[in-house]
Amino acid sequence: MKLLNKHAVFEKNSILLLVGILIMVSIGGLVEIVPLFYLENTIEKVEGVRPYTPLELAGRNIYVREGCYTCHSQMIRSTRDEVERYGHYSLAAESMYDHPFLWGSKRNGPDLARVGNKYSDDWHREHLKAPSSVVPETIMPGYPFLAETKLSYENIGLDIKTNQIIGVPYTDEQVENAVEDLKAQLDENSDGYDAFMERYPSAQVRDFDGNPREITELDALIAYLQMLGTLVDFSIYDESENNR
Ligand code: HEC
Repeated sequence: MKLLNKHAVFEKNSILLLVGILIMVSIGGLVEIVPLFYLENTIEKVEGVRPYTPLELAGRNIYVREGCYTCHSQMIRSTRDEVERYGHYSLAAESMYDHPFLWGSKRNGPDLARVGNKYSDDWHREHLKAPSSVVPETIMPGYPFLAETKLSYENIGLDIKTNQIIGVPYTDEQVENAVEDLKAQLDENSDGYDAFMERYPSAQVRDFDGNPREITELDALIAYLQMLGTLVDFSIYDESENNR
């Protein structure tokens, strides 16, 4: 009761109350913010996560350019309905190399964080050309020009370099060989294939747009879509959950 009586001082003096609130909020803020300055890493290390290959990065640029993120999120929340529909909830580490993040804030279409390997390349080709040809009730617009537009990849090395400067752990070798690596991902029989696989383990290699004569924007976009959410092997985690 005594303590409550003392509180009356604050309740009767708005300036004192304001100062009191500011002090309390600052303490709360410091407790949240200060550890971020001395923690070495706030993102847990997760096996399998690697920087994007040059082709995937080029595809990601097209995804940004076309504004796919205005209709699609890339962040599966940890609620039951989301996990049942889309798969394991997104981990911070899975977007640690994203500049900018593409988590999105609107879902006119489904979340794409784990769309990789869900459909065939063929399906994506048809769907991106004319979405209603595979999903009649869709409101997604078609992007038929992607298959006909040659990918401009000459400067992809600069893109990789920029990512390196802002903290993505690309090696100098990856920067220098960006163009060769981009081509190698489209052809298993190319000279650069082995070196490419060494630089980007677990990358998917094939001609993505079904037209081996040309490197198109569709190649890059499908390569990007097909790797989304595939880097981390979640069967390890699911098994340990079953054993509990
Ligand atoms: C106007 C909103 C809109 C835009 C813009 C849009 N989409 Fe979609 N997207 C949808 C809707 C709605 C669906 C669900 C029906 C369907 O499959 O077409 C969908 C479905 C998809 C699917 C299948 C997802 C699944 O799990 O079934 C993929 C992949 C996809 N979109 C990729 C893209 C890409 C890549 C772009 C940009 C080039 C894009 N979308 C732009 C609305 C949009």
